[in-house]
Amino acid sequence: MNQSSQAIGVDVGGSSIKSAVVDLRSGEFAVARRSVTTPAQGPIDAMLDAISDVVSDFDRRLNVGIAFPSVIRAGIVETAANINKAWIGQPLAALAHKRLDREVIAINDADAAGLAEIKCGAARDVKGLVLVLTLGTGIGSALFLDGHLIGNSELGHLQVDGQEAEQRASGRVRVEKNLSWDQWAAQLSRVLQEYQALLWPDLIVLCGGITDDAPQFLDKLVCRAPLRIGKLRADAGIVGAALATASTRPR
Ligand code: BGC
Repeated sequence: MNQSSQAIGVDVGGSSIKSAVVDLRSGEFAVARRSVTTPAQGPIDAMLDAISDVVSDFDRRLNVGIAFPSVIRAGIVETAANINKAWIGQPLAALAHKRLDREVIAINDADAAGLAEIKCGAARDVKGLVLVLTLGTGIGSALFLDGHLIGNSELGHLQVDGQEAEQRASGRVRVEKNLSWDQWAAQLSRVLQEYQALLWPDLIVLCGGITDDAPQFLDKLVCRAPLRIGKLRADAGIVGAALATASTRPR
């Protein structure tokens, strides 16, 4: 095994924390995934314990990328929309480095998913402005210009007709409000139209577990920008977090 050609990706989602060893050239899993429940509103130590649980079995020499549902700058958590607010201001990368005794980088979860789709998924080699959206607990966004990430875009919090985009059209909202696919697709269309009118992206990629149900809603979406479903589905965050360990600029 060539150690530097692999890294551990950890995706901290609203309900579960998932990890795998990822081959950095192909984006494929070299060692299958682990998963534990996310202590989303729990104390900081509980989250670090859970991250440690999904990493501890893997080769000690491998670096770790953590995809986290927050704005992350220089390894520090800046926001906490769907996790314990105690995370705001915490140096996630440094805390995890200490806990795991491994090299760690931290990146916003949607930015991670976007990296995976840009490098080895649905937006591979696409030039121009690409917007990658994750439709899970919240709505995450990742913007790329000619393949380069413009990090921490946070478009899920954009107001659309007086309501935050992620309160209208996240995957969680569909379940919690018991929306039909038609109703949810109408909400998501409004959000996509707003993003399209502001950014004029050349492509919008939709990601997250809900895209497994794409046949239920894709044809119902109305948006002027071309739409694609992410290729890596629910694994995009894990793959992108691992890929981020190889980026030259620490986040
Ligand atoms: C957070 C983002 C995150 C997204 C998806 C939003 O509520 O503000 O940072 O990317 O949820 O988890």
